[in-house]
Amino acid sequence: MSNKTWTAVDDYIVSSLFEADPVLDAVIATNRKQGLPAIDVSAAQGKLLSLLVRIRGAKRVLEVGTLGGYSTIWMARGLPADGKVVTLELDAHHAKVARSNFERAGVSDKVDLRVGLALQSLAMLGSENAGPFDLIFIDADKPNNPNYLSWAMRLSRPGSVIICDNVVRDGTVLNEDGRDAYVEGARAAFSFIGGDKRLDGTAIQTVGAKGYDGFAIAIVE
Ligand code: SAH
Ligand code: DHB
Ligand code: MG
Repeated sequence: MSNKTWTAVDDYIVSSLFEADPVLDAVIATNRKQGLPAIDVSAAQGKLLSLLVRIRGAKRVLEVGTLGGYSTIWMARGLPADGKVVTLELDAHHAKVARSNFERAGVSDKVDLRVGLALQSLAMLGSENAGPFDLIFIDADKPNNPNYLSWAMRLSRPGSVIICDNVVRDGTVLNEDGRDAYVEGARAAFSFIGGDKRLDGTAIQTVGAKGYDGFAIAIVE
């Protein structure tokens, strides 16, 4: 589902509130030219992630699902000079494109990109004692949402913020029939956050250039 007005309002938000950003425009153009799917967060959502990093005062950020690094760059920009984003990506081509985008955006020194199955990379981060992370953005294969949320709990501390993308997806989150693994992943995020006493969360429905979807957001108690 998409709507002309939603996209026009997103354009209005960006043109009224954001500086012209040829670097991020080039990142999006590169991602399309390299054949990456157009599932990067929108500019308005990317800026929200960047603001959340700043609001939290985060120094260590974890992202599950890099794609071409568009959301990674937004979050890296919200970090202080000694901050770091660890971002996890399975697809070697996506990772290669992301690396070149990090160079272009001047954030390579703030980004630790790990290629492989996110569940394996998370286990590695666990054994390295790489946590705790102050903010964790989950945006990869949706059926693994509960596994990623479990890892997020292990790699966080009280006060950490956990954000999960695509939890509304045109309202299909209401489908209880269990036939769509994507929807099940969204619903699993709700049951995880709702069922874990250490998490206090909500979800925000969003419309915009990327259609009708939403973020779940929670704080670790
Ligand atoms: N956060 C990005 C979009 C991520 S799209 C942005 O907003 O710019 C989801 C990404 O997750 C894709 O690049 C896909 O290759 C990756 N992915 C899918 N399954 C994965 C897995 N098991 N482990 C790691 N990454 C995975
Ligand atoms: C899809 C994945 C995403 O992370 C997203 O933001 C939009 C769509 C998808 O797999 O279709
Ligand atoms: Mg997403």
